[in-house]
Amino acid sequence: MTEHTYVGAVDQGTTGTRFIVFDHAGQVVANAYEKHEQIYPEPGWVEHDPLEIWENTKRVITRALGQAEVSPDQLEAIGVTNQRETTVLWDADSGRPVHNAIVWQDRRTTDRIEQLEANGAVETIREKTGLEADAYFSATKAEWLLEEGDPIKMERARPADVRDRAETGEVLFGTIDSWLIYNLTGEHVTEVTNASRTMLYNIHDLEWDDDLLEEFSIPREMLPEVRPSSDEATYGTTDPEGFLEAEIPVAGALGDQQAALFGQTCFDAGDAKNTYGTGSFFLMNTGNEAVESDHGLLTTIGFQRSGEPVQYALEGSIFITGAAVEWLEDMSLIDDPAQTAELARSVDTTDGVYVVPAFTGLGAPHWDQRARGTIVGMTRGTRKEHVVRATLESIAYQTRDVKEAMEADSGIEMTSLKVDGGAVKNNFLCQLQSDIIGSAIVRPVVDETTALGSAYAAGLAVGYWDDLEQLRTNWQVDREFAPQLDLETANARYDRWIDAVDCARGWAIDDP
Ligand code: G3P
Repeated sequence: MTEHTYVGAVDQGTTGTRFIVFDHAGQVVANAYEKHEQIYPEPGWVEHDPLEIWENTKRVITRALGQAEVSPDQLEAIGVTNQRETTVLWDADSGRPVHNAIVWQDRRTTDRIEQLEANGAVETIREKTGLEADAYFSATKAEWLLEEGDPIKMERARPADVRDRAETGEVLFGTIDSWLIYNLTGEHVTEVTNASRTMLYNIHDLEWDDDLLEEFSIPREMLPEVRPSSDEATYGTTDPEGFLEAEIPVAGALGDQQAALFGQTCFDAGDAKNTYGTGSFFLMNTGNEAVESDHGLLTTIGFQRSGEPVQYALEGSIFITGAAVEWLEDMSLIDDPAQTAELARSVDTTDGVYVVPAFTGLGAPHWDQRARGTIVGMTRGTRKEHVVRATLESIAYQTRDVKEAMEADSGIEMTSLKVDGGAVKNNFLCQLQSDIIGSAIVRPVVDETTALGSAYAAGLAVGYWDDLEQLRTNWQVDREFAPQLDLETANARYDRWIDAVDCARGWAIDDP
């Protein structure tokens, strides 16, 4: 069964869409990628065109299969993993979005969150969803789309109809997993890890929560059915008349950070990973117990297999890390992210410069919606090398913020951390990270762990892989980085970072 057959994974991220074909050893057989447009209609707003994302998905699947000369029939299953929280509303009849997707980074509903803070709803939200009330999650985005969104792309309904049609299930809600699965199979479903990021899902009862649906005025009729992350019943099959001309089960889905946790084989309580993408997301499996955080972390669902209880995780969501390097490029300080290591290495320290890339506020563990990007400590002698180095260091410091919170909440001292994501190819960053957190950094051979995790979820569901043990044997270390900086120096630098974060806090005001 496994010879000449494969499992494919769609990895739909914030900046682009990837399709990877994996073999039974969990090795990459083919990999195709396409970027999509970032739409910034107003300061602090971020949107994506869901139709562009779907077109790119079809294109990368076709391209990767062609590259490896794998026919669609050789795919035993497809898994989906996705940028989480990003919200799409679409017309069930035409399949067309009613509006651009509102991206997880979007800050347009900040005022609404402040209203929730003022009326004391924040504690209830934390208890039910494990989340810190924030514009980051889907609930206020869906509410905005129903109340204020200009339905620019709705073909049939007039603006006033959107809510009415949502109440009859003619307009549907979904996160990106849901949107892609709907397009792949025609089924309106989501899975537990994505549901746990909407701020509408009760992570203890494992149901859409009536009180929260009422708070945000979200009609239940528009919500997808919530399924396990690895689902033996499958989320349906691709259409044999569609672009693949084959009937392939779509059997696994996970939000991208939970997919990376699964792909890193963090199957047991205490296992942790950090993924370096647009932002960084540090998750620790806490087993069947939903551990409440006292230190600004989120409690979230890690994964669920068919017929098994959910496994929970603690998460530190850092909004901007890789995106800070993109910003260096946008500002023409670098031509290419690959240059950062060389420029940073050309100076011994940042000469006291700290970059706090709070472009979309600060996530864990600070949770400050009104924080904004800040550079402190510059002198007349500051050069771009210092700013570049300080930007890389900000990635490492933000990870240390979360690691400290994670250790305090879990009582587990982390002696090593598994890492993945595009930026971990940068050896300089891995060493810096190890120095600043004072623990070993472990990089696996297959660093596409996000796609791998969703392929594993899909492959387990259809019996391509037998059990978790088989997946553990696939996981291999590429390189381990041990701390080289003395702890005293690392701690002194970290203390200054905390001062710099204070400078970034509370900057944004509505009408200057
Ligand atoms: O919560 C947002 C996260 O899922 C986005 O991940 O890798 O697309 O930046 P990424």
